[in-house]
Amino acid sequence: MCGIVGYVGGRQAVPILYQGLSDLEYRGYDSCGIALLDGKGILTAKIAGRLSKLRELLKDLPPATTGIGHTRWATHGRPSQENAHPHVDCRHEIALVHNGIVENHRELREELISRGHTFTSETDTEVIVHLIEEAYDGDLASAVRKACRQLKGSFALAVISAKEPGRIVAFRQSSPLIVGLGEDEKILASDIPAVLSHTRKIAVLADGQCASITRYGLEVFDACGNLTDPDVRVVNADIDVAMKENFPHFMLKEIHEQPEALARVLSGRVKGGLPHFEPEEFRLSAEDVRKLQRIFIVACGTAYHASLTGKALFERLAGVSTEVDLASEFRYREPLVPSGSLVIAVSQSGETADTLAAMREARARGARVLAVTNSPVSSLAREAESVVYQRAGIEIAVASTKAYVTQVLCLALLAVHMGISTGHLALEEARKITSSLQKLPEQARKALKSEARVKEVASDVSRFEDVFFIGRGVDYHTAMEGQLKLKEISYIHAEAYAAGELKHGTLALIEQGTPVVAVLTDPSVAEKTASNVMEVKARGGRIISVTTPLTGGAFPPDPLDVEIQVPASYPLASPAVAVIPLQLLAYYAALQRGTDIDKPRNLAKSVTVE
Ligand code: M6R
Repeated sequence: MCGIVGYVGGRQAVPILYQGLSDLEYRGYDSCGIALLDGKGILTAKIAGRLSKLRELLKDLPPATTGIGHTRWATHGRPSQENAHPHVDCRHEIALVHNGIVENHRELREELISRGHTFTSETDTEVIVHLIEEAYDGDLASAVRKACRQLKGSFALAVISAKEPGRIVAFRQSSPLIVGLGEDEKILASDIPAVLSHTRKIAVLADGQCASITRYGLEVFDACGNLTDPDVRVVNADIDVAMKENFPHFMLKEIHEQPEALARVLSGRVKGGLPHFEPEEFRLSAEDVRKLQRIFIVACGTAYHASLTGKALFERLAGVSTEVDLASEFRYREPLVPSGSLVIAVSQSGETADTLAAMREARARGARVLAVTNSPVSSLAREAESVVYQRAGIEIAVASTKAYVTQVLCLALLAVHMGISTGHLALEEARKITSSLQKLPEQARKALKSEARVKEVASDVSRFEDVFFIGRGVDYHTAMEGQLKLKEISYIHAEAYAAGELKHGTLALIEQGTPVVAVLTDPSVAEKTASNVMEVKARGGRIISVTTPLTGGAFPPDPLDVEIQVPASYPLASPAVAVIPLQLLAYYAALQRGTDIDKPRNLAKSVTVE
């Protein structure tokens, strides 16, 4: 859950490392640092706090063309200068940055101390640099491999040694790492944005691989230490560039990108009026699908909310019983996975530790694995048998927006596709639904028109400390996503309830003026939700409703109520449209409260720890 960069080439390393770190700051932002090799030895600069604070220190560093950098999201040890990476060995000859967790760090630390090593931080990371120090006999790559054999957990590493100028050694185990292959320079990074301004040619490291990187060369060793061919790819130039353009925040930009992102999901995936997936996207035959006993969807956070809608889609359109689990719960609940099940792991980053672990657990229990992910270079994409890419483009804001709507649409297309195979959907019905799904980009564009109105409501909502969200069926899923957005970026306490559940306890919290956001887009349950809205209004709650032309006016309005209409879309995929005013509500409430919208406190974009 940290960002790693490395540079080796002919240019000055500091500005390139700094820019790379700022491109990766979304991965963690509580402390940061850089280590350079200047020919005489290792120099480090690190601080607790944001990257902008590091800039001053960097001015004092001498010129150097090799270096590594790190931006941290603290797990072991508070955010402080001592705990910030890079960490160095006892002799100050080796420096290392790390993303991940060393699970056996306590034992290793005790052993290293007993052998005379001195520790200067509280981190789990520091054991690695001391292990490399012990293993070093003139070959950094082999020392790193030897050290990594003693580690348990997840780790992406970048290491430099004063004895091997012009070389960075990297190792990947369950945390992402790529190497940008410039003409006569290499840029190591945790994620694509950090290399894009230098090159679009990248090598993706696989688990267990170690890379020895110099200005002109890249050697990749497999887990047994044998030289192996790097997995080289060219990154898509059109959708992988992430710049704020004229938007004040990435989040607002990404909210506005949703119509295009939805259109990209559909591009080439509808043929003859029906969903179409390439063989590598969906490796199950129609026969396999017919035999499916059960689908398990595992995901976290926003992806979990999209997956709840996925369950409704798979059960209603494909007729396959579907369970959705929070990935962090799945592996510990001893799930009964009948043979011939399918597990769908949904993850924007494809690196979420809990989702990867849940996917592996299901696979070990005999399930086939399909991934819905936004990252072609992720562990999830590598490990899954079938991979459906979300094509949302890089999402930088920690609060997920376009990733959510593209997940919903990917799952909807999959459900229709599978519904045809199971025979649950007649072709005519499947065509009708597909055609409704094709309207989502335009409907999302129209939903964005609610922005000015939502902005007004948000300034009101921002004064409250508690906000409730209600809905039924998929509207409940939208409500869940809306409350997560609000709390993660505005820090307002928000909770979502299935509308019918409110009266079983939570209604006690409704006071005069309490804002309650009611989502009523599904005509089949809108009236029922409207009754629950009336129960809230009778207790003084103030209603902000999201409706469509088909569901508007379901309850008598009050002067203080606000109704926001979005286009009526295919009901089971409606969260992809109905969520838009809720994303905007969260954004403008947070703006009003002056929070750090793109980098909310305590969070990080990619959660690579359990
Ligand atoms: O990369 P993933 O989709 O696996 O991430 C899962 C969650 O961490 C993520 O959706 C998180 O909840 C978002 N920050 C919410 O906006």
